[in-house]
Amino acid sequence: MSDIENILHEDRSFPPSAEFASQARIGDIETYRRMYAESIADPEAFFGRVARELPWIEPFTEVLDWSNAPFARWFGGGTLNASAVCLDQHVEAGRGERVAIRWEGEPGDTREFTYAELHAEVQRFANVLLDRGVKKGDRVAIYMPMVPELAMACLACARIGAIHSVVFGGFSANALRERIEDGGCTAVITADGGWRRGKVLPLKPAVDEAVEGIDAVHTVLVVRRTENDVAWNPRDVWYHEAVKSAAAVCAPEPMDSEDTLFILYTSGSTGRPKGIQHTTAGYLLHTYLTTKYVFDVRDDDVFWCTADVGWITGHSYIVYGPLANGCTQVMYEGAPNAPHTGRFWELVQKYGVTIFYTAPTAIRTFMRWGDDVPAGYDLSSLRLLGTVGEPINPEAWMWYREHIGGDRCPIVDTWWQTETGGHMLTPLPGCIPTKPGSCTVPFFGVDAAIVDENGVELPANHGGLLVIRKPWPSMLRGLWGDPERYRETYWSKFGSMYFAGDGARRDVDGYFWIMGRVDDVLNVSGHRLSTMEVESALVAHPAVVEAAVVARPDEVTGEAVVAFVTPVANIEVGDELAQVLREYVAKEIGAIAKPADIRFTEALPKTRSGKIMRRLLRDVAAGRESTGDTSTIEDLSVLAKLRGEN
Ligand code: WTA
Repeated sequence: MSDIENILHEDRSFPPSAEFASQARIGDIETYRRMYAESIADPEAFFGRVARELPWIEPFTEVLDWSNAPFARWFGGGTLNASAVCLDQHVEAGRGERVAIRWEGEPGDTREFTYAELHAEVQRFANVLLDRGVKKGDRVAIYMPMVPELAMACLACARIGAIHSVVFGGFSANALRERIEDGGCTAVITADGGWRRGKVLPLKPAVDEAVEGIDAVHTVLVVRRTENDVAWNPRDVWYHEAVKSAAAVCAPEPMDSEDTLFILYTSGSTGRPKGIQHTTAGYLLHTYLTTKYVFDVRDDDVFWCTADVGWITGHSYIVYGPLANGCTQVMYEGAPNAPHTGRFWELVQKYGVTIFYTAPTAIRTFMRWGDDVPAGYDLSSLRLLGTVGEPINPEAWMWYREHIGGDRCPIVDTWWQTETGGHMLTPLPGCIPTKPGSCTVPFFGVDAAIVDENGVELPANHGGLLVIRKPWPSMLRGLWGDPERYRETYWSKFGSMYFAGDGARRDVDGYFWIMGRVDDVLNVSGHRLSTMEVESALVAHPAVVEAAVVARPDEVTGEAVVAFVTPVANIEVGDELAQVLREYVAKEIGAIAKPADIRFTEALPKTRSGKIMRRLLRDVAAGRESTGDTSTIEDLSVLAKLRGEN
């Protein structure tokens, strides 16, 4: 049976154990129902109340202003500072001695920071930025390995009101440059390199290439991590040297609720990445609340989210959500198989991790590596598991439950997006029975529905488009520098409803089942890529005339990139050219975008009006017969050739 059929026939259900429920923040479904109902019927009362749990500098005077929809304003009149929410409040409440971050490098070196220590580090970091002339509202690009300074850099920006724009360290110099330019960044924070699979991944050379000729960038601040040789330019500053003369105290800048906290680029259905903009109060409230209720965090928990801070998951569930809740967490620099495939379980055992959050791709990889790997470690500290980033197939869900969770830990399958800031559809672990493959029910304030192409809500078990019908605090406020594109991308299809770009269905119990993207966005190992982005990279190569990129299902990575390429005349096609093109895409975008498969073709199947018929290419890539209509295809022989029929 295919995964989709599997999911349609899935009727297993796992209620939380009585023991888990009795200790959970919300241990009965009636409480969830009551709170959810209030959050939908009267969001202003609900969010107005829970928002008082944040430490405000000036209290807000208004909860929501939706009069200029789709541009929301939450908690108008209020001021606060994200770094003070994450650090100062805990230190002031006498919790400064609690460990905030237990960090481990890939080679096994370790560092630990209490809240008081992190508070001190972030203030000095903030002063380094101020000393370099970084001001409130300035954009700062961060391109770093998973070292503690990455979290500190984010919080230091937040402390002085600068807007951070983190770019995943696996992106290429070109991709970094594009993001620095689009955001108008004036400073870059990076490192000499990071450890990845036993090797130093140098970062500084990519930054040098990315900022060349961009005069607006006045500072490149370099954290020393791997001590590899780096080239040095006039605007480069070693962090460890600059911090020596930085003052110890830096007061948090009072920020308006709606001031931008950060920009994070993600892929959409066009070639140009979108700078998703999140604001201070709404984003913090939602990441704080979801960490509290979905991860059910308690004082004695050790939380570990395995994402990279370069993605939204790391922003929300390494930096802001856990720290706002005063959690103790593990942060790990490297790969799950360096130096051996039991690395993650070794860390769970060593640090006594209680809550573990990872991606389905990782779980499917662990399955491949074998049951005996996790069986070799003591995983009994775990009490809750989570997944994010892509649909999880029931088989992987069951494996996770049995082999990692010892059949005792609830699994929270959390559906959300860079745009939504935090969890949207997710079980609360103490009260929502889970079903393998379903992200279950909406979080507080999330008015989700399944509609048809015309925006009409569909009955249970009908596949359709996932929409959100009400604004929520951590919704994106726009796309950096392009308000029209924001409106167009998310709100033009249905007017008053946010269109997420995902297909889904809802079952008779009201549970959501995500089927995947319905636009030209690919999801490879939980990483978003746009087909157009990869196509633009390919056609930039002189050997390529035309390219079309589609996804095919992959057992481990969820989806894999398949590129159909029309080469220039008289060029030798074969493995060698395919390899050249793969490397070229890695250079243009990053290794995550490398096509798994490149197929050369004399022509691409097109409609009579010249549009590439991706649906047919998807069928070819997956080795399926095309069931759909092929009557509009311009030249049927093209399709026959692609399929290898003659
Ligand atoms: C997909 C990652 C199924 C979905 C937080 C969404 C999921 C896109 C899930 C956002 C899940 C994320 N089940 N699909 N639990 N979580 N997705 O912006 O297609 O990197 O639209 O945010 O990932 O990816 P993004």
